[in-house]
Amino acid sequence: MHLHAYLLIPLFLPGVSAQLNHYAQAAGLKFFGTAVDNGALGNAAYMAIARDADEFGSVTPANGQKWANTEASRGSFGFGMGDAVAAVAGERLMRCHTLVWHNQLPGWVNSIFSRSDMESVITTHITNVMNHYKGQCYSWDVVNEAVEDDGSFRQSPMFRAMGEDFIAHSFKVAASVDPAAKLYYNDFNIERYINDKIRAVRALVSRAQAAGARIDGIGMQDHARVGSAQSQKELTDTMEFFAEVVDELAYTEVDIRHTRLPVGDEEREQQARDYVEMVRACLAVEKCVGITVWDFADQYSWIPNEFPGEGEACLFDRNLQKKPAYHSVLSVLQSAAAERTAAPEITATATTLETVATADPAGK
Ligand code: G3I
Repeated sequence: MHLHAYLLIPLFLPGVSAQLNHYAQAAGLKFFGTAVDNGALGNAAYMAIARDADEFGSVTPANGQKWANTEASRGSFGFGMGDAVAAVAGERLMRCHTLVWHNQLPGWVNSIFSRSDMESVITTHITNVMNHYKGQCYSWDVVNEAVEDDGSFRQSPMFRAMGEDFIAHSFKVAASVDPAAKLYYNDFNIERYINDKIRAVRALVSRAQAAGARIDGIGMQDHARVGSAQSQKELTDTMEFFAEVVDELAYTEVDIRHTRLPVGDEEREQQARDYVEMVRACLAVEKCVGITVWDFADQYSWIPNEFPGEGEACLFDRNLQKKPAYHSVLSVLQSAAAERTAAPEITATATTLETVATADPAGK
């Protein structure tokens, strides 16, 4: 007798609790990951979830690898914060974040004006940081947020000194230091429907590639608002647009915040629907390799600091209870995993979802 595998899942997974990364991989993604900040490391209940490879297959240091925390003084490197989060990742993947960014930049970089000095400083920074984490990073966000919403270049210290050449230069150095790491351009508001910023990002990536830089992926941060997040169709159209110039895409910093608090059941259900659109979009696009949430628990979200009165953007609440959004995301991943397992039709005894997940964890 032939059965579809989705009929078998409850029977064939004894002891496997429902978890995000497990089903994301079974559905064909490389990972479902989370950011982890240093302030959370002492919270044992939180860490039990963060360390669970079935829940999160990839970890990103929310702050630990940034310039201000790795090279606060010129030429003097420290990796304590980043290393503490890398230890949490353990054998799992890391999406490493970030090398060249205008924010959390030490003051001494702001006072560099000459092209040659900036070029040399970027080379030194990338070389030291990437060498330290060499072999641990599945990917690096090499350049972060270089473009304004209107599509113009951000007037960062790097742009001021080197013009857009700082982008190609950064990627060339990164490729030479860790050839195995996937190199990403990462930005916010580029998960939306094709707009000026999205066009500008694709164009700058193409120009840097034409100048000899390797850029493997575009990271779409996806800091969105409940009720005005994009539909699956809008998200996939944008990804297809980017897919013409890079090999990989990823949602890299997902959170979907409520703009008014407190929230009721209807707002929570809307948040769940918004998360689901994003997950479905990633599953639908061949080059979308994974999803990272910008922390999974509300008490460690950056939103209330930057947007007072807004928040509750994560999949778990402050008591580490799973929200409707968590359950909806999981359900979509489980369905996608089951469909993938069921095609082609298989026999009841031949395959469990478990074997698919372990035999082909990164296949897509
Ligand atoms: O570490 C200090 C702590 O010692 C001090 O007591 C506390 C007082 O406010 O501040 C702590 O530092 C804060 C740090 O987060 C660690 O939590 C900084 O003030 C705060 O500015 C910093 O915010 C980070 C923000 O980037 C900075 O722009 C957020 O945690 C981090 O989640 C956020 O992440 C960025 C991505 O890297 C890039 N994309 C946007 C995203 C959200 O802004």
